[in-house]
Amino acid sequence: MAPTIAKPLLSDLVAQTGQVPLSHVRPVGDRPDLANVDTESGAGIPLIDLKKLNGPDRRRVVEAIGKACESDGFFMVTNHGIPTEVVQGMLRVAREFFHMPESERMKCYSDDPKKAIRLSTSFNVRTEKVSNWRDFLRLHCYPIESFIDQWPSNPPSFRQVVGTYSKEARALALRLLEAISESLGLERSHMVTAMGRQAQHMAVNYYPPCPQPELTYGLPGHKDPNAITLLLQDGVSGLQVQRNGRWVAVNPVPNALVINIGDQLQALSNDRYKSVLHRVIVNSESERISVPTFYCPSPDAVISPAGGLVDDGHPLAYRPFTYQEYYDEFWNMGLQSASCLDRFRPG
Ligand code: OGA
Ligand code: NI
Repeated sequence: MAPTIAKPLLSDLVAQTGQVPLSHVRPVGDRPDLANVDTESGAGIPLIDLKKLNGPDRRRVVEAIGKACESDGFFMVTNHGIPTEVVQGMLRVAREFFHMPESERMKCYSDDPKKAIRLSTSFNVRTEKVSNWRDFLRLHCYPIESFIDQWPSNPPSFRQVVGTYSKEARALALRLLEAISESLGLERSHMVTAMGRQAQHMAVNYYPPCPQPELTYGLPGHKDPNAITLLLQDGVSGLQVQRNGRWVAVNPVPNALVINIGDQLQALSNDRYKSVLHRVIVNSESERISVPTFYCPSPDAVISPAGGLVDDGHPLAYRPFTYQEYYDEFWNMGLQSASCLDRFRPG
């Protein structure tokens, strides 16, 4: 038998062995309990129609967003303004990218989390003990002129298609941040201003089919370190969010995007809005593609809530910190269910 050569990317490794390698097997007690998940319809996260966000009914939509941020930390949006063909193009080029030959994909590979553009696997292969069932391409997207020349040049339409999607995603993130500011009784521009010179990162996640999904995670339970995440998923289920100690499946809804509050909005809202644990499970039948857009404060932005959100009944939940400080801490901790925010509690 030919000797097996270690493959850096999971999709190539699994193509070679057809098994879950030991590197990806979670210890007993830290595996997804797949039988114990809420999949019933109605248990899902709120679905909010953004059609009336710009019009006389704005207040009602803003209230619905505020309520979802407070109670679930997750919601889905329809009529979000990103054209269907832009969304479909993004998913198509993502699939084409991950279906390219190994040699072509490996041109983008790096295990250095500090690189602005890179293809890698799992989460942080330099530090973690057990790997996750995921390959991912990570791209910095804003300001786009600073990064687009470093993006993959294959498939040939990649830069144009992903560039268009990322601009649309940024416009939607800004509209949501305005609505979220208003829902907290703040100026419309509050959150965007508080975040300083914002950054936008995108991950293109590729979860290959997994012969034994009960042994591993696409991504284990974690909270997003950024301010707000806009998630595009293909038609395959896998995302689950935690509610009242149970995992709830967020099954794809056609043309909807999933929005979730990250740790920075939790801190900026002085704990009113929740950054919630979520995870990805994989399945034996289908590959799954998801494209989260992470909207982030400037590294030097000082994260501290508006004065109006702090009073005797709502004392300051976290000491002020810079996003850079937070992000370094997050990468050092690695993905784990403990909240990184707890390290910034005062006193
Ligand atoms: C993430 C994430 C969810 C998904 O990348 O942080 O939570 O469905 N992704 O891929
Ligand atoms: Ni996440």
